Amino acid sequence: MSDSTNPFRIHGVVTEEFFTDRAAEVEQVLRTFREPAAKLLVYGPRRMGKTSALVRAVTRYQASGGVAFLADMSTASTIVDIANRILEAAGRALGKRWRDSISDFVEHLGMSVMLTPDPTTGLILPSLDLALRSASLEDQRTSLSTTLDSIDALAKLRQTPIGIVLDEFQEIQRFGGEEAEWYLRGIIQHHQNVSYVLAGSEAHIIERMLDTGRAFYGLADQLQIGPIDEGHLSAWIDSRMTTRGVTAKGIGSQIVAAAGPRTRDVVQVARRCFDNCKTTGTVREADVVQAFDDVVAEQETLFQSVWNSFTAQQQNVLRAVAADLFGLTTSASTKQFGLTSSGAVTNSARGMIEAGYLVKSSSTTGYSFENPFFWRWVEQETLGDLGASLQVS
Ligand SMILES: Nc1ncnc2c1ncn2[C@@H]1O[C@H](COP(=O)(O)OP(=O)(O)OP(=O)(O)O)[C@@H](O)[C@H]1O
Ligand SMILES: [Mg+2]
Repeated sequence: MSDSTNPFRIHGVVTEEFFTDRAAEVEQVLRTFREPAAKLLVYGPRRMGKTSALVRAVTRYQASGGVAFLADMSTASTIVDIANRILEAAGRALGKRWRDSISDFVEHLGMSVMLTPDPTTGLILPSLDLALRSASLEDQRTSLSTTLDSIDALAKLRQTPIGIVLDEFQEIQRFGGEEAEWYLRGIIQHHQNVSYVLAGSEAHIIERMLDTGRAFYGLADQLQIGPIDEGHLSAWIDSRMTTRGVTAKGIGSQIVAAAGPRTRDVVQVARRCFDNCKTTGTVREADVVQAFDDVVAEQETLFQSVWNSFTAQQQNVLRAVAADLFGLTTSASTKQFGLTSSGAVTNSARGMIEAGYLVKSSSTTGYSFENPFFWRWVEQETLGDLGASLQVS
């Protein structure tokens, strides 16, 4: 019997057969790992597939005998949490390569650490004293610099370069703003035995960090993670569906056109489409539309509560962007959508770019939704508030 489980995954990082493409990006990250003291800044929009590409590079590097790891900074509430994420990931990667490395590592750290055996791998993983989380900012920063300095020292001792990926590294600015960025730069720029890949998704923050005179200006090479080639992704979707028993011809390209350009959005529609068509064994054009609408419907509660969190002015701006009939600050737009002065409208739009709901685009209004499903929801559910003339089917 052929395997009819869903060939698409949308929760977190994808690996192996669920991962496609990104060969050039993975190669560039691997080159960075191989060159001690190299630094690469990887950036791109949310849901584009940054972390999956980085994990792929780490896995390949480890498979070839190299030492590299990824630490995720996105959920940290203190700087000590960042140090702990790095310590844990380092503990795993170092322990895999050198079973005896942990004592050298802890010796270099010179801080009080707890050592906990990991039940699945048996590796001993270090973590910092929890009391440090409420220590002074200075002591917390020292825990981060000491952690990274020790990894550099261990790499030197073992004469093996170590690759460190700091995912969502822009979060460092939550712990002291621009000064914290300079602090991180100060630590990493001196390391000669470690290479760094700094990855992030908040374009407006990262662009600021890279500006002339700012902390990361001129520090690193840059790699932008953009959309996967449309032709490649379309063919991959058709082939994944077909090999799992659901015939799909030219369906991938329709899904990409409906959901693109963010990889996760495309895969999410493909995943739903596969589930919907498992019984018939074929995907038709109408199934793509249905799958897209199903994904929108699944998120109804979330979208409704996001909508309710906006002011009336922000809601009107979103309506205008969704309908995309006139330039946002034109008098036609003001009249149709009940907008106030053009300055206030531009400010609202800017605020919603910062908050991640809108992006600049070449559409009529000059803006688009960051999320195609939220766009559809606003179009379907809120334009009716303005009367029958603007309702969409
Ligand atoms: N190379 C790929 N091949 C197939 N699917 C992918 C690929 N990259 C990303 N995806 C899809 O996108 C989803 C999100 O991937 P990932 O977490 O790597 O993206 P990200 O850019 O790091 O996202 P975030 O902005 O949330 O951190 C995956 O679960 C998968 O559905
Ligand atoms: Mg990510």
